[in-house]
Amino acid sequence: MDGSHSPYRPDRHPSESYEDILCRDTRPIPDHLRQGPVPDVGVDPVPASRYFSPEYFQKEVDHVWSKIWQMACREEEIPKVGDYVIYEIVGKSLIVTRTATDEIKAFYNTCLHRGRKLVTLNGCKDEFRCPYHGIAWNTDGSFKDNPIGWDFPQWEGRDMNLPQARVGTWGGFVFINMDPNAKPLMETLGTLAEHFERYDYPGRYKAIHVSKVVRCNWKALAEAFMESHHSVTTHPQILPFLADANSQYDIFDDFVSRQFSASGVPSPFVHDKNYTPTEIIQAMGGQGGGSRRRGFEEGQSEVPDGVSARAFAAQQQRNALSAEDGHDYSECSDAELGDALLYNVWPNMSFWAGYNPNLVYRWRPNGRDPDSGIMDVIMLKRAPKEGPRPKPAPVHELGIDDAWSEATELGGLAGIFEQDMGNLPYVQEGLHASGNGLVHFGKYSEMRIRHMHHMIERYIAEGEAARGR
Ligand code: FES
Ligand SMILES: [Fe+2]
Repeated sequence: MDGSHSPYRPDRHPSESYEDILCRDTRPIPDHLRQGPVPDVGVDPVPASRYFSPEYFQKEVDHVWSKIWQMACREEEIPKVGDYVIYEIVGKSLIVTRTATDEIKAFYNTCLHRGRKLVTLNGCKDEFRCPYHGIAWNTDGSFKDNPIGWDFPQWEGRDMNLPQARVGTWGGFVFINMDPNAKPLMETLGTLAEHFERYDYPGRYKAIHVSKVVRCNWKALAEAFMESHHSVTTHPQILPFLADANSQYDIFDDFVSRQFSASGVPSPFVHDKNYTPTEIIQAMGGQGGGSRRRGFEEGQSEVPDGVSARAFAAQQQRNALSAEDGHDYSECSDAELGDALLYNVWPNMSFWAGYNPNLVYRWRPNGRDPDSGIMDVIMLKRAPKEGPRPKPAPVHELGIDDAWSEATELGGLAGIFEQDMGNLPYVQEGLHASGNGLVHFGKYSEMRIRHMHHMIERYIAEGEAARGR
């Protein structure tokens, strides 16, 4: 500590804050990176059974998953009329399809005859014809024909079009909501959309998509990516260059929260090591950045006198990004070129801000199993300034026993995810084994996790109250 940082705040780590680090940035910082709201969300523990109880899981099915906006796919995955992607959540299945050049709809993936799923693989169709008895619907969901129509007098004059869920789009993503009375998507994403205007999400393409089944409840999976200070024991190799324990956390509204961790700055856990800028850069080059950050090449890891590791790394990244996609990054802040800037949209999505290739996470239950979840890791890259837009990457699916390292496209990130996931089966087993049946969260740095639980509780309470009426 050099005395130049903000006054000590009792609920924060006593080292310099993220905003203090921003003060040393070599470029102007946008206002939205400054400390945002920190509501008092209390300190009460939550029951461990929320992570495995079938009854609680069913309440989430009834009152959360059926009510919220969920990211289903990218628009670029269904560019032509008739293209569709299947989105599945807690046993529901939706066909998300382009029905016109400027229109996307989501149909329940169920034949209205005897219930067979209409499609089981993503693709492109000029009709949705059920493989069981051949009844068909047009790609806009309207009823088309029935080979045994003579036997269905009861369908005459009846609405036999495919039932739909709501659809919204933002940033090149398609979102669905199964609640016909849901508020518009922008009431969920508003703050995020405002902050992300400068990051050109629609101009990005899906460069990587890995989807893996993990042995833990979907909330435990999400929570592994909602605080930074687990790096002290889970990712010790990143401590020389990630300011973790002094990360910034904000909760803007019911739906949008975030965490910021500075890179190119050592963790307070290793302050006593007094790493030199060159040692910090060497640690960064060897680890952690994965395919988000270009490695520092031979002869590029010597930091000149008077330059901080953070500023040096940011400049390298400006150069590398410009060389790769042809856009100008000269005025982009150091923070937006290197820091971990994770926004969360309650309950199950995370979008990285900044100009680097952006990570996007989605966490879901694995079918109707409280004890396993699915994590999608998407990486968006900016389309080159010149030339055709690259095609979106297909989904690389990893099973419950597959290693992240099998997804070689993730580069060094695979090792980081492997470390994160190394904890999670034992978190799930530990929750089942709990002696006092309680889970505790840190007051500040884990407040977003608590907030996630509070929102689930609120949706369950409101849903149950509405049923009782
Ligand atoms: S179940 Fe689909 S046509 Fe019979
Ligand atoms: Fe981690």
